[in-house]
Amino acid sequence: MIIIASDHAGYELKKEVIKHLEEKNIEFIEAGCMNGESCDYPIVAKETCEKITDGTADKGILICGTGIGISIAANKVKGIRAALCTDTYMARYTRLHNDANVLCMGGRVIGPGAACELVDTFLETEFEGGRHQRRVDQISDIEK
Ligand code: RB5
Repeated sequence: MIIIASDHAGYELKKEVIKHLEEKNIEFIEAGCMNGESCDYPIVAKETCEKITDGTADKGILICGTGIGISIAANKVKGIRAALCTDTYMARYTRLHNDANVLCMGGRVIGPGAACELVDTFLETEFEGGRHQRRVDQISDIEK
């Protein structure tokens, strides 16, 4: 299960990505914000990421204006590896090597076409494991 959320600056792109998920019959949960009114991305990030760490969803998509603020906030939640991506190479390798569980994007940075390609790449790429598992474990150790 995927969970997708944004602040006001990412709201329009969130709607485009949701349309894409629906066209591909990918199940998702929509979280805040539910309209284009100003809201605070740290709260959106926390509430959405907690739905991943409690097992409600496996992966998340978070969108703010730049993608930066929401990724900083998401990475404060224990167990979250959020990756801000602007191209498909980043989306692919953050799955292969970092086992990222949240894709962050900037609604004021990329258009819907590029964003949907990032989403597809992120969702379709499996973690490679092996030596990368050790490094992901080392990231988890920092949280202890
Ligand atoms: C909101 O204006 C903007 O600051 C936010 O969406 C995000 O870009 C923060 O990093």
